[in-house]
Amino acid sequence: MEALILAAGKGTRMRSEIPKVLHPIFGRPVLEYVLAAVGSVGFRKPRVVVGSGAAEVKKFLKERGKPFAAVAQNEQRGTGHAVMCARQSLKDVKGDLLIWPGDMPLLKRETIAAFIQEHRKADAAASVLSAEVTDPAGYGRIIRRGSRVTGIREELDASDSERQISEINTGVYLFRMDALLGALKNLRSENAKNEFYLTDTIELLAQSGHCVAAFALAAGEESQGINSRRDLALAVKIMNEREIRRHQENGVTFMAPEQTFVAPGVVIGPDTVIYPWSFLESGVKIGRGCEIGPFAKLRKGAVIGDGAVIGSFVEVTRTKVGKKVMAKHLSYLGDAVIGDGTNIGAGTITANFDGKRKNVTRIGRDVLVGSDTVFVAPVNLADGARTGAGAVVTRGSRVKKGETFAGVPARSLGRKRSS
Ligand code: UD1
Ligand code: CA
Repeated sequence: MEALILAAGKGTRMRSEIPKVLHPIFGRPVLEYVLAAVGSVGFRKPRVVVGSGAAEVKKFLKERGKPFAAVAQNEQRGTGHAVMCARQSLKDVKGDLLIWPGDMPLLKRETIAAFIQEHRKADAAASVLSAEVTDPAGYGRIIRRGSRVTGIREELDASDSERQISEINTGVYLFRMDALLGALKNLRSENAKNEFYLTDTIELLAQSGHCVAAFALAAGEESQGINSRRDLALAVKIMNEREIRRHQENGVTFMAPEQTFVAPGVVIGPDTVIYPWSFLESGVKIGRGCEIGPFAKLRKGAVIGDGAVIGSFVEVTRTKVGKKVMAKHLSYLGDAVIGDGTNIGAGTITANFDGKRKNVTRIGRDVLVGSDTVFVAPVNLADGARTGAGAVVTRGSRVKKGETFAGVPARSLGRKRSS
């Protein structure tokens, strides 16, 4: 089996300079989600049809570092035409072909796996992955006579009664290669959009006596495609809800799930409480029993130890925060390593960027960082060190064990006599 992803469309409804499939959801392009799902069901080297914004799409595909084969569709004349453009590249494909639109990022691995299984069981020449939805507007409708699938009707070409049909086409299909090639030859573009619709191959195959099936295996939310900015926002909402549900099942409390944003793949330990308006971006790891937010922003590479508190208006990125660390108010912690039990006073800033590179702030265990400290990285604080309120700890400083730094810029006040 081989997979073909259609990603050449203009995405006119997005009204954007950015190719539609590259619009980000939680920082990752729509197409990334499709590729990840296609990969997870075992397709190692998908073919991707590119056209509008081809250079940018190809650049993204290359930077991903995984195998793919690009197929050019120089003029966007419809989904059927996109597949026609891939004919040459599909010459050697003998078995079945999975076709997946590049703008359907919410379909789940399990759904696709079940779809492949049903297609095989039915021994169909073509199968459509469909969904029963409450609002079918904008999607192609599955036309059946009795239980038999006879075709797919696009919204713009549908009659009033066809528009009542709630079973929609997700745009994901499995075709027997020979059947597909035969049907492509007979595609015509006499329709509302003057395009070659891939959907018409289903009717053509049904008419010529092939076994054609549709499996309503996709849940309504999975069939949400990205055609407009509104769809993009809906996809964010759906993905967010999915992730939050997963974390809730793992024992995480969200005070206000709808006011919290959690990217896919974030790790959160049980008994952690997330307060409203917190953003947990991709690549964040949080331990158990932590308190996060309200208004916390955790970015890539934030690793938060068990029992730590990352409070209001605290941003953390590329930073390892030890167990039971308190950073309760108004801080920026970037490119830092913070040892267990350390207290980060309100308003602490790691000045990590010197205009050229990002420098590291190393803070030991049980350190007491005074309010409003600025660490001009690179700096190093040993275990049990302290800074005074408002300290500016200059570049290259090494604060020794038990030593306090205070002042602007900070200078040594010597070591503590006892202990
Ligand atoms: C398509 C289906 C519709 C289905 C819906 C589900 C057709 C005619 N209609 O409609 O039945 O309900 O998807 O998501 O297929 N593309 C190309 N080249 C083109 C045109 C499109 O590569 O010339 C790509 C697009 O980049 C996109 C995908 O094909 O990723 C689907 O195209 P789009 O225009 O979004 O189709 P829909 O109108 O959503
Ligand atoms: Ca679409």
